[in-house]
Amino acid sequence: MFSQEMMDSIKKVEATRQSRIGADLRRMTAEEKEKLLREYHPDFVDDGFTVLEAGPNKGDKVPHELADLLQANSRLMSLEGYEDIDAVEAELVEPDYDVDVLIIGGGGAGASAAIEADEGGANVMIVTKLRMGDANTMMAEGGIQAADKENDSPAQHYLDALGGGHYTNKPELLYKLVTEGPDCVKWLNDLGVMFDKDAQGNMVTTHGGGTSRKRMHAAKDYSGAEIMRVLRDEVINRDIPIVDFTAAVELILDDQGRAAGAVLMNLETKEILIARAKTVVIATGGAGRLHYQGFPTSNHYGATADGLILAYRAGAALLYADTLQYHPTGVAYPSQIFGALVTEKVRSLGAQLVNKEGEAFMNPLETRDVSAASIIRECRTHKMGISTAEGEGVWLDTPMIEQIHGEGTIEARIPGMLRMFSKYDIDIRQVPILIYPTLHYQNGGIRITENGMSDVENLFVAGEAVGGIHGRNRLMGNSLLDIIVFGRNAGRNASAKVKEVKSGKLTLDHVRKYSEEMVSAGINTDRVSPLLLPTYTHGREND
Ligand code: FUM
Repeated sequence: MFSQEMMDSIKKVEATRQSRIGADLRRMTAEEKEKLLREYHPDFVDDGFTVLEAGPNKGDKVPHELADLLQANSRLMSLEGYEDIDAVEAELVEPDYDVDVLIIGGGGAGASAAIEADEGGANVMIVTKLRMGDANTMMAEGGIQAADKENDSPAQHYLDALGGGHYTNKPELLYKLVTEGPDCVKWLNDLGVMFDKDAQGNMVTTHGGGTSRKRMHAAKDYSGAEIMRVLRDEVINRDIPIVDFTAAVELILDDQGRAAGAVLMNLETKEILIARAKTVVIATGGAGRLHYQGFPTSNHYGATADGLILAYRAGAALLYADTLQYHPTGVAYPSQIFGALVTEKVRSLGAQLVNKEGEAFMNPLETRDVSAASIIRECRTHKMGISTAEGEGVWLDTPMIEQIHGEGTIEARIPGMLRMFSKYDIDIRQVPILIYPTLHYQNGGIRITENGMSDVENLFVAGEAVGGIHGRNRLMGNSLLDIIVFGRNAGRNASAKVKEVKSGKLTLDHVRKYSEEMVSAGINTDRVSPLLLPTYTHGREND
């Protein structure tokens, strides 16, 4: 199963293991990190980016793959039977759904928003292109940060996240994240999330990269699935309607430019449906399935940046769309799970990053951008990676975990990892695993204010589709936290706003205007967006 090169290298990893346990691996200085990032982090690869020529962020740098979709044709302009956007617009007067709050996206942020909007007394509907819970939340592993221990404080959490984000986080958003964190974890716990607890019932917490306190609350290494299980149950228990296998393909505005619903498409029948709403919440998640710079991804199949496209065409600006997170430890071997997430919790539990000679080449709990860049350097420049069919990787020395914490720790704390690799006859208690950075998270997204609203009146945003909370690099566990904090926030404010909304005439004029702006900018493309689902079939990107 392992190549000869891998087996020879594993012997070296085993030979150095004992001497590495307890070793104090030096942290990089700020100057070293800065240099490393500029030379090796994909965010600094000029060829990976282009400059937008249309829309609110005209002149800004974004990844090519995102620009192609932001500057693509509306699905309404190419749909069979709806060649003319006017035909769809004529249907706006007789909506198929008429609700107070329309939530686009069925992950953790959408569910949290729906619960709070319902709590606020609004008539809520969730529309999701797959099924409720088919989202990155479900795939989150390591945990959720919240400063709720005696030796910790939201201020400490704020400083950690600010440093990790290179001091670019929007202060008011970060303040909200950290100060509401403890209450959100309590809310989840009260709803029924089965967090890891000790015999006395206290939450067990661990470190993540860049944290100064142990504040990662987890449900083993399937924290996201456990949180999503409970949120989905709560949505169902409240009888909140869910329209599944149905994608939002354009936002509807009213004649004063305020969000007033969405044009939906049933993905099975291709039928067009109109949802009128007083307020709209975009909770569509990330963009990993755009495979920026050819990277594999840890993301869910539906992560195609749809919300960014809809909001951008309606006039909402993006923030930090040029910064992505490459999780340092994506699976590099075996090929069947190439790019899948190996949770940071593996490193929190003590596993070191080790090169082909068995040397620990960095402190395993540097922040993610620094760790990813360091691994890329180790392979590319230091030539210390181990070859695989897809490229190369370095070792994550998992057997160290049981040497440090005792037998049974891996089964108890990271059973998902144990099982994922055991399907390919790799016992992570016995042998190290081969990893390489994988596209994991969009640090940037739609710009919002503290109340969750975008530049477009009555258009709220929550979760990974938001830009600014984490600055230019997110710390582990702050994403599961932000979907709850900002999901609830958006739901509450979208629901409260309903009372004062008197929508004007519904229109799709913004879609025409954006198309005209593209023509004026000389953009001529056959691409259509939002993408909705990746095809992985060359030449069928618009299907
Ligand atoms: O490594 C992880 O478990 C990922 C966590 C996160 O992205 O917050």
